[in-house]
Amino acid sequence: MTLALPVPADRLPGARFRVAALGAGMLAVAGLCLVLPADGSAAARALEAGAAVALYLAFCCAVLLPGRSERSDGDGGWLVVHASQTGTAADLAAQAASRLAAAGLSARLVPLGEIGVADLAVARRALFVVATTGEGEPPDPAIRFHRTAMAAPADLSGLDYALVALGDSDYPAFCGFGRALDSWLQASGARPLTERAEIDAMMPASRTGWTRVLDRIAGPDISPPAGDGSAPWRIDRVARQSTGPMPDREDLALVRLVPEGPLPDWGAGDVAEISVGDSRRDYTIASLPAEGGLSLVVRPAFHPDGSPGLGTGLLTATGAAGRRIGLRIRANPHLRCPPLDRPMLLIGAGSGIAGIRAQLAARIAAGGGANWVVYGDRLPATSTGPQAELLAWHRAGWIGRLDLAFSRGDGERCRVPDRLRGEAETLRDWLARDAVVYVCGGADGIGASVHALLVEMLGEGVLQEMAARGDYRRDVY
Ligand SMILES: Cc1cc2nc3c(=O)[nH]c(=O)nc-3n(C[C@H](O)[C@H](O)[C@H](O)COP(=O)(O)OP(=O)(O)OC[C@H]3O[C@@H](n4cnc5c(N)ncnc54)[C@H](O)[C@@H]3O)c2cc1C
Ligand SMILES: Cc1cc2nc3c(=O)[nH]c(=O)nc-3n(C[C@H](O)[C@H](O)[C@H](O)COP(=O)(O)O)c2cc1C
Repeated sequence: MTLALPVPADRLPGARFRVAALGAGMLAVAGLCLVLPADGSAAARALEAGAAVALYLAFCCAVLLPGRSERSDGDGGWLVVHASQTGTAADLAAQAASRLAAAGLSARLVPLGEIGVADLAVARRALFVVATTGEGEPPDPAIRFHRTAMAAPADLSGLDYALVALGDSDYPAFCGFGRALDSWLQASGARPLTERAEIDAMMPASRTGWTRVLDRIAGPDISPPAGDGSAPWRIDRVARQSTGPMPDREDLALVRLVPEGPLPDWGAGDVAEISVGDSRRDYTIASLPAEGGLSLVVRPAFHPDGSPGLGTGLLTATGAAGRRIGLRIRANPHLRCPPLDRPMLLIGAGSGIAGIRAQLAARIAAGGGANWVVYGDRLPATSTGPQAELLAWHRAGWIGRLDLAFSRGDGERCRVPDRLRGEAETLRDWLARDAVVYVCGGADGIGASVHALLVEMLGEGVLQEMAARGDYRRDVY
């Protein structure tokens, strides 16, 4: 007697356990046949038929009922786990989940910060899409997993996985967190289904690893290549924020863009990806859709030979207004502005005013809340622009407290950390009232100096906990 398996045994959920159970059942039937008389008596035939039916029922149960330790995503489906600082990994993970669903496979999308070892121990298949930030560090939402779960190897012997690491080879610890997670998974007994893919600065050439991983887990994609996903937009206006009698080539530029199609939706914290040839540049969006256009605050960059930076040249060079560009909006939900009953301390410098402005615009649209802004730039603005707007919002009462710091010029020279240094008491008071601290601007400048000061004021452990909870939000680049 032969029993045809409806699907190959090794592709069944919990296959090893079930194949073993099936094998044991077959052995039992074979044993029964041996001890029964071979004369084909009616009693023997009835016993044999009964055993076959029992075996078939056992087989059906083994296939159809979830195993002891299985949950829905363990049942042949995929757990798609992401760790993202500025939204790219979360975005790719969502694309992977859609691709798996299109291939008829169930997929549960979840941030790494929201699962623990127990979830991985009962999952059968997982795809990890993880970025690296800081100097080889995990993205903020993954800090707790990194510190607790990854502190020692776990038992993940039931897990098959694929891993895609996002990074930038300009940083010494290229894909540092992705590599650390991969090593920990293997040390924990999880089995890689395919070699780790590493995406370098989202360059098209390094995205082949991403395609390879998706093809391996979801089957080949026969739809036409999607391109970079950008849509045509037009630069509507470029306004330089003047800061002195003489224009400076590095003065901030407020760039307003309008789409050729309908205005899409986005929220505070989201990022505009600007296509620059084969590459792309990210800019924190400074406005909200209700304003009718998308604004960026751009600090023009220059190469050592004096030529303009690729992205900033495209956006701010003379004659940029009217130019058509490719733009895609990337959601970054972990930076969406907090509810109004939570006070917000917004810290930034230079182009970081973009993020501060978007958060404040969202809070003002929702009714206001308690807002404290500490912002620094090289010089006070002498023209209208985002700096003037901060002053106007302060006068109107939307910003309860505004501290400005200017590092150049004739007046008192100081930087943002100087403004904050004496405020430990006020800061603790705000945190006791459940405040969120948001920092926006350059990673090496404001990001590093404010981080060092907050560590000094609050302690490294408290700050890490705040980052893991989403109460310390870094929009630094
Ligand atoms: C999430 C995110 C949000 C961001 N938001 C903003 C924002 O709101 N506003 C903003 O202004 N920027 C923002 N940035 C930074 C932005 O993406 C760009 O990196 C920045 O504008 C410079 O881009 P560029 O193409 O003009 O310069 P590039 O052409 O990339 O050059 C950048 C710099 O690299 C150096 N460089 C380049 N080539 C060489 C070389 N051959 N030798 C030595 N040095 C070299 C130069 O110092 C140059 O200034 C953000 C970045 C991220 C990741
Ligand atoms: C402030 C900052 C620090 C970064 N540090 C690293 C790093 O140490 N190693 C690395 O490989 N990539 C680093 N990157 C590059 C990011 O990993 C890469 O841009 C990735 O695509 C971001 O994914 P995310 O948007 O999901 O956070 C860094 C990027 C930023 C903005």
